[in-house]
Amino acid sequence: METPLETGRLLLRRLRADDLDSFAAMNADAAVMRYFRSPLTHDESAAFMQRIDTHFDTHGFGFWAVEEISSGNLVGLTGLARVMFDAPFANDARALGAPCVEIGWRFVAGVWGRGYAPEAARAALAAGFGRFGLDEIVAFTVPDNAPSRRVMQKLGMTHSPADDFEHPNLPEGHALRPHVLYRLKAADFAD
Ligand SMILES: CC(C)(COP(=O)(O)OP(=O)(O)OC[C@H]1O[C@@H](n2cnc3c(N)ncnc32)[C@H](O)[C@@H]1OP(=O)(O)O)[C@@H](O)C(=O)NCCC(=O)NCCS
Repeated sequence: METPLETGRLLLRRLRADDLDSFAAMNADAAVMRYFRSPLTHDESAAFMQRIDTHFDTHGFGFWAVEEISSGNLVGLTGLARVMFDAPFANDARALGAPCVEIGWRFVAGVWGRGYAPEAARAALAAGFGRFGLDEIVAFTVPDNAPSRRVMQKLGMTHSPADDFEHPNLPEGHALRPHVLYRLKAADFAD
């Protein structure tokens, strides 16, 4: 098991089998999943957890479980993932031989507004640019997801309108298909 990342209030560690019920409860909440296609069933969360584990084994990084140190509760997920789908910004990176890596976050609604997402994300970015030697990390969401865009802004990420894209995993015409793309270069990251 890799060493967890620690911030002032949070511990970022790999998901464990005994996290499944808390993880599934977060993913089943319609408020948390408002900007995703739908909430996840318990089985879909189990499959998602398995994919996260495989990603860690393959790449050394992934979506970390975020534990609140004061309570010991699993309060969210923050981490780095290889972008594998077909979109111009990702294809451009891959054409240059560079891995395209995104940062993402999801927290239980009860802790929103405490600054946990940017706090956890800074630790994930530091690992991405440091230990994993990435040159750039991107983030994306639907245009209406103001809280997530605010987190990107707090991290010093820059919206790149020329790279906004239609998410290929959603059907054409779906309201959640258009996405905005934000970028952050290692040289611009202030830890
Ligand atoms: C996006 C998200 C991770 C932000 O996490 P967070 O820990 O609340 O982040 P912050 O505390 O820095 O708050 C970010 C912004 O969220 C908004 N916000 C704060 N409290 C909120 C609340 N109770 N309800 C809705 N939005 C709220 C504010 O605009 C805040 O910006 P501000 O600090 O300038 O006021 C969280 O809202 C979330 O889990 N959303 C659902 C999952 C999701 O959409 N993930 C992103 C997919 S791309």
